[in-house]
Amino acid sequence: RKPVTVPGLRAMKSAGQRIVMLTAYDASFAAQLEAAGVDVALVGDSLGMVVQGHKSTLPVTLDQMVYHTALVARGLSATLLVADLPFMADRDVAHALEAGARLLGEGGAAMVKIEGAAPHILEAIAALTARAVPVCAHLGLTPQSVHKFGGFRIQGRARDAADQLVEEALAVQAAGAQLVVIEGVPSSLGARITGSLDIPVIGIGAGPDCDGQVLVCYDMLGITPGKRPKFSKDFLAGRDSVAAAIAAYADEVRRGVFPAAEHGFA
Ligand code: KIV
Ligand code: NA
Repeated sequence: RKPVTVPGLRAMKSAGQRIVMLTAYDASFAAQLEAAGVDVALVGDSLGMVVQGHKSTLPVTLDQMVYHTALVARGLSATLLVADLPFMADRDVAHALEAGARLLGEGGAAMVKIEGAAPHILEAIAALTARAVPVCAHLGLTPQSVHKFGGFRIQGRARDAADQLVEEALAVQAAGAQLVVIEGVPSSLGARITGSLDIPVIGIGAGPDCDGQVLVCYDMLGITPGKRPKFSKDFLAGRDSVAAAIAAYADEVRRGVFPAAEHGFA
């Protein structure tokens, strides 16, 4: 398999080829993603919830992100590795650069992901990009803002909020982001943002019309404790291995079968 690269993601969007992204937190899962031909592995700070058992992603530290990124890197060869900047690692440009240096240098990531589009985030995106640290933006229901939102709430439902998210997407692209994750927005807004940007847009709970999809691996295997999120799907149900579940996810994303209307928000 040809290695997936940051410029290659843009070529996939142009070619109308959907991008398959999935989280991983260790080398064994990374090898499963690699074997299934997943395009992008994300070491998400969701590990604070699904690995560490916290109620939010806020307790995750940069040391922990670097550690898990290095574990995942050892399981990959062709799959592109993206790692999250944890809460407050983006508090100013200096910290964001330090985090980028560690996630790429020690962790082995090819790209970092940053939540939001506040002025200091746009500055951080530009500063990282200028230093050859490719950036994935993350907009919409950004989990690090859980207390600001008052819970994990769908974003962009009101018309002015939707317009603002489109503006934010254009702003992160202008700042240099090469990829955007859009989470927890109405499907119509997912489509609108995807159509407004030149860079690929990866959705999670953002409807079927994004350039690609991402899920938390334990959600799509049905092993995250508690209720399955509406936007996810248990791909292990009716299958006999994790490998088959991940392969089915990749196949359904590429064919545009997942997500279905029932996984989206009106
Ligand atoms: O941390 C994470 O897993 C994420 C994805 C859900 C996009 O940010
Ligand atoms: Na995250």
